[in-house]
Amino acid sequence: MKTTRHFLDLCDVGRVELRQILKSAAKFKHGKGQQHPLSGKTLAMIFEKSSTRTRVSFEVAMRQLGGDVIALKQDDLQVGRGETIADTGRVLSRYVDVILLRTAHPDRLVELAQSSEVPVINGLTDRSHPIQLLADIITYEENLGPISDARIAWCGDGNNMAFTWLQAAVEFGFELRLACPSELELDAKEIFDARAAGANVFATNDPVEAVSDASCVVTDTWVSMGYEEGEWRQRLLEPFRVDEALMKNANPNAIFMHCLPAHRGEEVSASVLDGAQSVVWEEAENRLYAQKGILMWCLT
Ligand code: CP
Ligand code: NVA
Repeated sequence: MKTTRHFLDLCDVGRVELRQILKSAAKFKHGKGQQHPLSGKTLAMIFEKSSTRTRVSFEVAMRQLGGDVIALKQDDLQVGRGETIADTGRVLSRYVDVILLRTAHPDRLVELAQSSEVPVINGLTDRSHPIQLLADIITYEENLGPISDARIAWCGDGNNMAFTWLQAAVEFGFELRLACPSELELDAKEIFDARAAGANVFATNDPVEAVSDASCVVTDTWVSMGYEEGEWRQRLLEPFRVDEALMKNANPNAIFMHCLPAHRGEEVSASVLDGAQSVVWEEAENRLYAQKGILMWCLT
């Protein structure tokens, strides 16, 4: 029986297949991938939120693999006028071979996957951003070797990226140290479940404690898309800014990662983002290869 390979969350894909995707991504990065393996295939991408990297890297990846791509904003579709995401999935899967959805609501993604006859890719929800994490793993391992030996420090909002790092700690076996203000922490149950699944996770409200001897320090915007900006949020997150003083607590050869877009002077100082330890531009470039690995896994 044919099973549809949806890429919804790291834990659904599982560690063995995630490693296969990363291997395939590396082949494409090093020019050893097949030429035009996705010729005749079409990707449809639906964006209910903004995107630079996801949209452009998937578009370029699909074209370089020989396929075609259609990018749609919510208002381009009848979903903007009330057609259900399930009906949209039923129809689109008669035309295209794979669908990506970026939406606030994880339930919409699941609904789309349940109604679609073709693979569905999570292009980010308020809960998780797994396609980004694959590029992050590639970037870490290119710089510092196996991520299973890593101590990763997360500093800032307990948002969708923090949650995805938590899922990655289960699948890739590294130590994760989460530092968030108590008001913006990840759900305690999520951390409990990750530990029960074998993750080595430490949660604190002290960024220095988290960053201590870390091999990689990660942060993300203080205000994720769709969330309310506010002085209160800035005030809570101010002590979690990744600056040179905080980076001094990490290993001397530690790297700094950020999924981007970044806000210099907020979650990260300009000197760290643009400094020698930052690998954020490689990380953004690796999105392209990660997307190729994901598309190949979904479609071949
Ligand atoms: N990191 C990331 O997903 O960037 P975009 O929002 O620009 O796609
Ligand atoms: N946490 C951010 C990630 C952007 C790629 C957001 O959801 O806006």
